[in-house]
Amino acid sequence: MLVNATEMLKKARAGHYAVGHFNINNLEWTKAVLQTAEELKSPVILGVSEGAGKYMTGFKTVAAMVRAMDESLGITVPVALHLDHGTYEGAKACIEAGFTSIMFDGSHYSIDENVEKTTELVALAHSKGLSIEAEVGSIGGEEDGVIGMGEVADPDECKRIAVLGVDFLAAGIGNIHGVYPPNWKGLDFGALAKIQAQIGELPLVLHGGTGIPSDMIKEAISLGVAKINVNTECQLSFAAATRKYIEEGKDKEGKGFDPRKLLAPGAKAIAETVREKIDLFGSANKA
Ligand code: 13P
Repeated sequence: MLVNATEMLKKARAGHYAVGHFNINNLEWTKAVLQTAEELKSPVILGVSEGAGKYMTGFKTVAAMVRAMDESLGITVPVALHLDHGTYEGAKACIEAGFTSIMFDGSHYSIDENVEKTTELVALAHSKGLSIEAEVGSIGGEEDGVIGMGEVADPDECKRIAVLGVDFLAAGIGNIHGVYPPNWKGLDFGALAKIQAQIGELPLVLHGGTGIPSDMIKEAISLGVAKINVNTECQLSFAAATRKYIEEGKDKEGKGFDPRKLLAPGAKAIAETVREKIDLFGSANKA
């Protein structure tokens, strides 16, 4: 059931759990995430970066595939189709293409420009029934060409964006896209508590979900995080399972080269990662 992400995240924020946002890259990814969420009776968010959208030949293709698959698989849990780290133009394109949720990442603009562009996109997204995520303080590392320095968000700036009517807010708290380096200092919970004090009940988003230890995830949820983004971990699971299949020579046995067989272990591995995250985030049986 395709919906925007507003209600599912309000419920998660009030119920002290988080909804997983899993980035998708193709049909196998989408199917693995949808089937696992349905099996666990969990709401879910399918994240699409601008790079992944381009790879799948455009946002219209993605929206058509997700809508059709949601219907064909008889998915009953709430599913949001969400633009991840959208530009101003990308956000507008996804609203047109039939997404149910967008993120406008204005964190690299000055706060005044971020406020101005976010204000415009909040009005546009809400007029079409979409939810909207905004960002303050960039997420460290690189995702699909979006590079952030990993600044910790200023709580007063978070408040300036929160009051614009965004439905959830991504605030940098030392989180990084991709695998965390061994000398990573961990999440800045002091900053998170200050941000939460400024924005009240507005659900917070934790990007860079790959590799954050379980105790930090739980503490972040207790401080208002209601959406957690995971991308790299599914990619690593998929790659490891596919490598194993090929290294064991299974593609050379019978019709093991058939893509439906070759890609099956990777898809299963994505589903296992999604299952672990849904269990950790506490969103099973919350649909
Ligand atoms: P990871 O790739 O570190 O899991 O981060 C995902 C993310 O934050 C997507 O926006």
